[in-house]
Amino acid sequence: MRKLLFLNNFLLAAGLALLVLPRAQAQQLQWQFDVPFVPTPYVVIEEMLRLAKVTPQDFVMDLGSGDGRVLITAAKKFGARGLGVDLDGDLVAESVDAAAAAGVAERAKFLQQDLFKTDISPATVITMYLLPGVMMRLRPALLNLKPGTRLVSHDFRLEDWIPDATTQIRKNAFLWIVPAKIAGKWDMKFSLPGADQSATAHSITLELRQKFQEVDGFARFDGRHAQVWESRLSGDQLSFIIVDDRDRDSEASLYFEGRVSGDVIEGRFRRGTGITQTVHGWRAVRAVP
Ligand SMILES: C[S@@+](CC[C@H](N)C(=O)[O-])C[C@H]1O[C@@H](n2cnc3c(N)ncnc32)[C@H](O)[C@@H]1O
Repeated sequence: MRKLLFLNNFLLAAGLALLVLPRAQAQQLQWQFDVPFVPTPYVVIEEMLRLAKVTPQDFVMDLGSGDGRVLITAAKKFGARGLGVDLDGDLVAESVDAAAAAGVAERAKFLQQDLFKTDISPATVITMYLLPGVMMRLRPALLNLKPGTRLVSHDFRLEDWIPDATTQIRKNAFLWIVPAKIAGKWDMKFSLPGADQSATAHSITLELRQKFQEVDGFARFDGRHAQVWESRLSGDQLSFIIVDDRDRDSEASLYFEGRVSGDVIEGRFRRGTGITQTVHGWRAVRAVP
């Protein structure tokens, strides 16, 4: 309902312009580009940047930067650097002046440029207030960003890509964390102390399916079927649990955590809980994508 209201705001602005202004001026005011200029309220901007946990280490890109307020806030209040792009030359000039007036011209830059022709790979955070169709045209490029890149959108979603977090203070804002690509068959190797305490090599083949950040799958542990429990993916951080039930008298959960880097996952796992817990290393290599 709320989403519809704000989509209506865009349409209403264009509709009113058509009614009250001379034709040439009205045409200029409405859909000149993919999205009309409607600024995000400052409280919502701060919520978006808070949701994305922006820090001075971040490079924020505002796609369709309007009057520059998102990036200027990111620079002024969060110490970030960044780039805003907008097709509207007047808004870009206004943004450059506003950044200078705010004393952040070195950190908040603006270019008159099409967001679809912009290299977004340097971004650690992307901010957007775009229409749903434009978001969906962008989605493949967003999914190809470095795992862990945070995307925040004012009011509009990315269809079936469920947000990782949401805030609803005054307006809806959504956060997605770009997930690593982890679908496929992985060969894992690690060693565990055997009954006589000497290290014994083990292998797990892990077959993972993925829909954005949602992951499930199954495994074979030393050749036997094993369930993969509670798998979670956030950026390049993967975690899941497999029960080591090779020996019924000493079965225990194996809590895996690892970092995905291309076709390799490396990390640690804990065996068991409490004071009997032990910690080990593991490594997996993707055998089949
Ligand atoms: C809804 S406004 C958002 C402005 C700003 N990001 C904010 O949240 O306050 C969308 C902006 O996108 C710009 N825009 C539309 N299509 C664009 C495109 N293809 N490339 C770059 N900018 C575009 C418009 O000129 C407008 O300023």
